[in-house]
Amino acid sequence: MRTTEVSEGIFRLSANVKDILFEGIWPIPNGVAMNSYVVKGKKCAIIDGVCDWDGVPETLFAQLDEMNVKLTDIDYVIVNHMEPDHSGWLRAFKEIRGTFTIYCSEKAKPLLEAFYGIHDDVHVVKSGDTLDLGAGRVLVFQDIPNVHWPETMATYDTLSKTLFPCDAFGSFGSVSDDAPYDDTLTEEQIQFFEREMERYYANIVAAFSHPTKQAIAKLGGIEIKTIAPGHGIVWRKDPGRVIRDYVRLAEYGNGPAKPEVAVIWASMYGMTELGIAPVVEAIEAEGVPTHVYRVPETEMSFVLDAVWKCSGVVLAMPTYEYKIFPPMFAVIDEMFKKRIVRRKAFRFGSYGWSGGAQKELDETMARLRGKWDFIEPVEFKGRPTDADLDLIRERGRELAREVKRWCLAEGGAGSAAE
Ligand code: FEO
Repeated sequence: MRTTEVSEGIFRLSANVKDILFEGIWPIPNGVAMNSYVVKGKKCAIIDGVCDWDGVPETLFAQLDEMNVKLTDIDYVIVNHMEPDHSGWLRAFKEIRGTFTIYCSEKAKPLLEAFYGIHDDVHVVKSGDTLDLGAGRVLVFQDIPNVHWPETMATYDTLSKTLFPCDAFGSFGSVSDDAPYDDTLTEEQIQFFEREMERYYANIVAAFSHPTKQAIAKLGGIEIKTIAPGHGIVWRKDPGRVIRDYVRLAEYGNGPAKPEVAVIWASMYGMTELGIAPVVEAIEAEGVPTHVYRVPETEMSFVLDAVWKCSGVVLAMPTYEYKIFPPMFAVIDEMFKKRIVRRKAFRFGSYGWSGGAQKELDETMARLRGKWDFIEPVEFKGRPTDADLDLIRERGRELAREVKRWCLAEGGAGSAAE
């Protein structure tokens, strides 16, 4: 663990977290970096926290030592966001440090009380308020509600023109202490974090895409030389790149996204499964890449990632007790909670003594007001016949052509950028 200098007077403190489910739900096989920043003027502020899940880790103190910052030098703690992955250290820090002032938004204040019993020395700020650290360093605060909780704000250092946006512009993926900056990474390594960013976005931020777009618009008038997020790498060579990434990702929910197809399928006894290879071959024969995931074997996190970034979706599942096979229903329900609003789609699947999955899918789409454009489904009793499989191939090709047409016509953020 090593502390590094982002720019003169700004230090990055970070810990990689692994072997947990992020937010208690999302797997992070490549870990995630938890970033905090110490900003020094004549006075010293720490922005967000280097969190252990149980409180202040030893690493925080070791890192402060590396910067020649004593605990008692920290005058201010800026709480951009109250989710405990960033704020979970506060109670322990309060006990150790004692005297410091917390700067946070109005909506964060009751959460400080609720989560940590902290109510003293809390200074509420609103957009445009400032904190002068001395030596020419002034911090400005900007509310960015719902990126990711309603209380979230961003902090901007006017001296270095560094933006500290917490969850926004973040990604999954452990970050090497030797190379935490885009200018110290190879293009291949940056692309790794951009891939991790897609699943992070689909899992954590997707439901808040509208506020994310509003936040990006609000921050649009500010000169930004560096973006120092709460997760992932620091962008100081090309901060515009991660802004463009987030603009693209925020648009995916309304589509079109990438000109690709997510094939999400479930099968009880292998009957529906018989259609998977034919539909994948048919889609790919049209030159459209596929991402194939079986449910419930694949964790929701990866399914959402695929559906978020693909303009086309195949839902293949059987009827179970007159309804959609339950693990697929859970996935479909979550897709709508993540506001995957528009897609080109095709559904097929098997039934036994009775159908019902298609009826429930139609009802669910109507109830959730999904603007998914489905081509005609294919349902079969028991094992699919050769004619059924031919029909699945035909519909797969039709879906692929629809996806290509849509991406070409509306030029989506995804198709333009890829
Ligand atoms: Fe990284 Fe919404 O917390």
